[in-house]
Amino acid sequence: MLDLTPDRLVYEGKAKQVYRADNADEIVIHYKDDATAFNGVKKAQIADKGVINCKLSAFFMERMGAAGVPTAFLRQIGPRDQLCRKVEIIPVELVVRNVVAGSLAKRLGQPEGAKLARPLLEHFYKSDELNDPQINEEGAVLMGYAKAWELAAMREYSLIVNEQLQAFWGGLGVDLVDFKLEFGRFHGQVVLADEITPDGSRLWERGTGRKLDKDVFRRDLGDLSDTYREVYRRVFGESLPG
Ligand SMILES: Nc1ncnc2c1ncn2[C@@H]1O[C@H](COP(=O)(O)OP(=O)(O)OP(=O)(O)O)[C@@H](O)[C@H]1O
Ligand SMILES: [Mg+2]
Repeated sequence: MLDLTPDRLVYEGKAKQVYRADNADEIVIHYKDDATAFNGVKKAQIADKGVINCKLSAFFMERMGAAGVPTAFLRQIGPRDQLCRKVEIIPVELVVRNVVAGSLAKRLGQPEGAKLARPLLEHFYKSDELNDPQINEEGAVLMGYAKAWELAAMREYSLIVNEQLQAFWGGLGVDLVDFKLEFGRFHGQVVLADEITPDGSRLWERGTGRKLDKDVFRRDLGDLSDTYREVYRRVFGESLPG
């Protein structure tokens, strides 16, 4: 049963809430309509974002599981709610890039849009206080954030996710520019956790370059709710009900 009473809330994030589940090995993740950018400096409510992202992430996580990537996702239990394995989040975020954009473009003073010859994997230390600074693998190991074998598993899984997502989006005429993944530890295993959504991805429509992701909000390019409805429609082949 879905019990989201306040005494069950264990964490309130920027985009999601985490609730205790009946089983101690599980949690309920509740997707909110809040959008934030620049580490929480810019905020807004985006109609139906939670419903859309919950369903999109469930859809992609299921596909990743089928492709051989262990995930924390168990099942969707409400319009905005997922039952997931409760993992210990590894504080190293993995960013996979196929095209130069965002912080990479800024950091290197390069224009956005150049295609990379092969996927570039970047690691960031997950710390809101520090604004998620970039870190290399050796640093992550020496600082005790992750074991070398965990990072190796994360990299391997990230490349599988990239292949799967690139093929999927390519089939819809959309280029997967980059995306961020989080992983966690579950009974000694590394599993893909958190979300796969347009909040943490860059998706550019092939031909037009139209952005179908959170950059629409970050850069004031239009209505994010309309954009995410469009993404929903393309992925599920029908409009979001209501
Ligand atoms: N399966 C899981 N088990 C435990 N924690 C999880 C799981 N999936 C995601 N999380 C964590 O739950 C939180 C989800 O909330 P949200 O994404 O809104 O956080 P956030 O504001 O982005 O903050 P953070 O910097 O912690 O990611 C994140 O801290 C995420 O790392
Ligand atoms: Mg998050």
